[in-house]
Amino acid sequence: MKIKAAKAILLGAVLGAFGLVGDIPPASGGPNGIYKNPVEPEMTPKLNLGKLNYGFYCAACHGQTAGGSDKGPTFISRVYHPGHHGDQSFLAAPRRGVRAHHWPFGDMPPVPGVTDKQISLIIGYVRAVQKANGVF
Ligand code: HEC
Repeated sequence: MKIKAAKAILLGAVLGAFGLVGDIPPASGGPNGIYKNPVEPEMTPKLNLGKLNYGFYCAACHGQTAGGSDKGPTFISRVYHPGHHGDQSFLAAPRRGVRAHHWPFGDMPPVPGVTDKQISLIIGYVRAVQKANGVF
């Protein structure tokens, strides 16, 4: 009995650590805006295009697989859940830039040269990454 309980607690702790149970956020970038070891979604040709564009325009700051870097936050966070930051804010950010309000990275400057078509491919990739890592 005692051993069973201990096992249950251990299992809970392990699942909790992976964000699989309870009120622990399923995917949290953490206070430093970094998400370690993000998994890639299952790729399609369209997602691949999104990943290429993401890699060219966004990854230097938002990290490989949107895991974050020392220059910008991960998107694998409840903060960037589609209900909080809809596609509109992803279209706006590269155009207008973003004044720092969630993290200590500083402002995001506008991203020159990226087209709406490219941004929508990038959004497709970012949403797939979020989904693959349990944001929704
Ligand atoms: C030079 C670094 C840099 C690059 C390049 C960059 N970002 Fe950002 N981005 C940031 C930082 C820093 C923030 C966080 C601001 C804050 O504290 O809220 C941010 C925030 C955002 C946000 C949140 C906007 C909001 O309303 O809170 C979105 C969406 C975003 N970036 C999308 C992109 C996309 C898409 C690209 C590529 C086309 C990109 N970023 C490229 C640094 C960058």
